[in-house]
Amino acid sequence: MSTVDWAALRAAAIEVRDRAYAPYSRFPVGVAGLVDDGRVVVGCNVENASYGLGLCAECGLVSALHASGGGRLVAVSCVDRTGAPLLPCGRCRQLLWEHGGPELVLEASDGVLSMAELLPAAFDARDLDR
Ligand code: THU
Repeated sequence: MSTVDWAALRAAAIEVRDRAYAPYSRFPVGVAGLVDDGRVVVGCNVENASYGLGLCAECGLVSALHASGGGRLVAVSCVDRTGAPLLPCGRCRQLLWEHGGPELVLEASDGVLSMAELLPAAFDARDLDR
């Protein structure tokens, strides 16, 4: 998809970030993803008193993707408390790869990066076939 409305995607990420449940880290995260059929799906981080059980915002995004009909992610904007772009943690890069592949593009502070750049030589389902 050549035309991505990054401002709208980031606005959706900021809106859902304000619904994050992050009382332990006090680091709210919001993420919005454009799906290949034009839908926008969102997620926020949800922490737990058992710290290791916290869910990153991207987990919610992927759940929302499938709960609302599936499809492939084509563009993602993830933001921190200031509204600045946040690049996903390693685990979430793997999550996003599964649902967008190497062509999925993410907003970075100085432009756009592809998943191929963020997770080179990724492990994925094709490896299971070998
Ligand atoms: N977090 C995310 O939601 N996504 C990321 O990609 C990085 C980290 C959350 C997890 C935790 O609730 C908080 O940010 C601080 O690490």
